[in-house]
Amino acid sequence: MEIHKLGVVGCGLMGSGIAEAAARAGIDVWVVDLDESSIRRGRERVVSSIARAEASGKLTGPEGEEARSRINFSTDMFTLSDCQLVIEAVVESESEKIAVFEQLDKIVRAPDAVLASNTSSIPIMKLAMATNRPSQVIGIHFFNPVPILPLVELVTSLVTSEETASRARSFAAKQLGKDVIRSQDRAGFIVNALLIPYLLSAIRMLESGFATAEDIDVGMVKGCAHPMGPLALTDLIGLDTTMAVADSLYEEFKEQLYAPPPLLARMVDAGLLGRKSGRGFYDYRA
Ligand SMILES: NC(=O)c1ccc[n+]([C@@H]2O[C@H](COP(=O)([O-])OP(=O)(O)OC[C@H]3O[C@@H](n4cnc5c(N)ncnc54)[C@H](O)[C@@H]3O)[C@@H](O)[C@H]2O)c1
Repeated sequence: MEIHKLGVVGCGLMGSGIAEAAARAGIDVWVVDLDESSIRRGRERVVSSIARAEASGKLTGPEGEEARSRINFSTDMFTLSDCQLVIEAVVESESEKIAVFEQLDKIVRAPDAVLASNTSSIPIMKLAMATNRPSQVIGIHFFNPVPILPLVELVTSLVTSEETASRARSFAAKQLGKDVIRSQDRAGFIVNALLIPYLLSAIRMLESGFATAEDIDVGMVKGCAHPMGPLALTDLIGLDTTMAVADSLYEEFKEQLYAPPPLLARMVDAGLLGRKSGRGFYDYRA
C-alpha cells in the first residue's frame, strides 16, 4: 500500500529534507515543529533547496511549485492524526524522542500506521517501547542532504513486524527511489558506527596540534578521494548531532573510540555547531 500522506516531526536539516524528497515524489506531507521560527527556517530551507534543484535542471516546469505546494507546516501535532507514516526527525535526544513517540501513539489514528524515526544512533527498541504498537515502529535513517544522497538505512528492532519493514522499504525504495540497506538495532547502525570514530579521530588530531583543520581535510579529499574532509563533514552534520551520536555509541559499547573529545564538547557548549550556526571548524558567516 503506497503512502499518500506522510507526517514529519521536526523541520531542521533532516526533517525539511525528508519533507522535500517526499513532496518531490508526489506525496502530501504534513510537517510539525515546536514554534513559528523553526517552521520559518524549515520552509526557507525547502524553498532554497527546490530553487537549487530548479537552477540545476533537476526539477523542470511546474515540478518545483507542485512539490512546494504539497508541504504543509504546522505547530499542531494533531495535523498528523490521519497520516499513514510519520517520520520523527527531532533533535538526537532519547528523552525528546520518547516524548514524541508517546504523543504520536496517542494521536495517529490508523491502526496500521507506521511510526518511524530518523535517529542516527538511538536504539529503535527504546522508541518502540514508548508506544502501544511496538511492532509498527522502525528506523528509516536518511542522509544529509536528503534530496541528493541516495541511501536509506532501515533499522528493525527485535519486535518490528515484517509487514512494517516491507511497507517502510517500499516507501523508501519504490516511492522515493532510495537505495535501502538493512541494519540490526545497534547504536549507530551501519554507517554511523563506522563514520563517527573517523570524525572523532580527526577532531582529536586537530585538538592535539598534529595538523591544521585545512590540512586534515585536504589530506582526505585529495589523498582518499573523499568528497569532503572529516571536519567539513562534521560542520555539515552539526557538531551537536555528532556529539549526541557519539554519546549514544559510547553509552552502548563503552569503547574509547566512540568517546567525544573535549574540543567537540567545548565547541557545542559555545554554540559553534557548524554550518547551521554559521561557525564550527570553519567560518560560514562571510
Ligand atoms: N544532521 C545530519 O546530518 C543527520 C543525518 C541523519 C540523521 N540525522 C538525525 O536526524 C534527526 C534530526 O537532526 P537534524 O540535523 O535535522 O537536527 P536539527 O537540529 O537541524 O533539527 C531538529 C528540529 O527538531 C525540532 N524539534 C525538537 N523537539 C521537537 C519536538 N518535540 N517536536 C517537534 N519538533 C521538535 C527543532 O525545533 C528543530 O527544528 C536527529 O535524530 C539526527 O541524529 C541527522
